[in-house]
Amino acid sequence: MLVRVVSCLFLFFFNIAQMAQEDKEKTTALKDLLSRIDLDELMKKDEPPLTFPKTLEEFEYAFNDRGQLRHTKTGEAFVFNYREDLHRWNQKRYEALGEIITQYVYERLEEECNLTREILPVDATEDEPKSFIYLSEDALTNPDKLLVLIQGSGVVRAGQWARRLIINEDMDSGSQLPFIKRAIEGGGAQRGSEARQRGALEQGAGGDAAMPLLNRDEERGKVRKTGRKETVREEEEEEEEEEKEEDTKECRGGEREVRKEKWSAEMS
Ligand SMILES: *[C@@H]1O[C@H](CO)[C@@H](O)[C@H](O)[C@H]1NC(C)=O
Repeated sequence: MLVRVVSCLFLFFFNIAQMAQEDKEKTTALKDLLSRIDLDELMKKDEPPLTFPKTLEEFEYAFNDRGQLRHTKTGEAFVFNYREDLHRWNQKRYEALGEIITQYVYERLEEECNLTREILPVDATEDEPKSFIYLSEDALTNPDKLLVLIQGSGVVRAGQWARRLIINEDMDSGSQLPFIKRAIEGGGAQRGSEARQRGALEQGAGGDAAMPLLNRDEERGKVRKTGRKETVREEEEEEEEEEKEEDTKECRGGEREVRKEKWSAEMS
């Protein structure tokens, strides 16, 4: 009898121990499962494929004669929140459009401004990092003046001050085109710059060479600068966290754009 009781107790304890062990295993398995759930993946579950049009026409957008980006059917300005509750998808769509804008500006630089693309370094080998700049025909021969335009870093490419301004306002606000054209008319040689790899050219020369030219007329600038910043901030809220860095940069592009306007007023 005693033996039986002891064995019963033993079994009882054994069961408790086993349950505790199972619980622990379940918790571990659950933790493991949770750690493997990628929230990003989960969000992608109901997301349409990230395939976007490759041309402005397929996007059903075009620049009108005032340089504003408008829907070809509705005439509406660009809509960021194209699909409700699909932030990631909307952001990717915006980026896809941005890529097209970049190519569009390159074409304008070549066709409207007669600039030519030069690969740098000129003697780069196959596996060496390369970039390119745009040069006017007389950039290296005109002894008079040399104008170097350097865009910001991030997604902004040659010929652009701020992609956001090109998309939401117009080509003249966001691109360098009016400045390049005016510089050509003024007879000075000029050079648009593209530096895909962050290098001395992109980082240093921008502030030193361009800013003193653009940094005047403080009073008018302050008012305009404030207005522009607010616009940018509103749009920021619509976009994903990961784009914050880019926003800051484009914001800076906006400020530069303001300085540039001042400069343009002086030139005329
Ligand atoms: C580009 O070249 C064409 C043809 O030579 C000329 O008509 C046009 O004015 C030039 N554009 C600029 C901005 O210099």
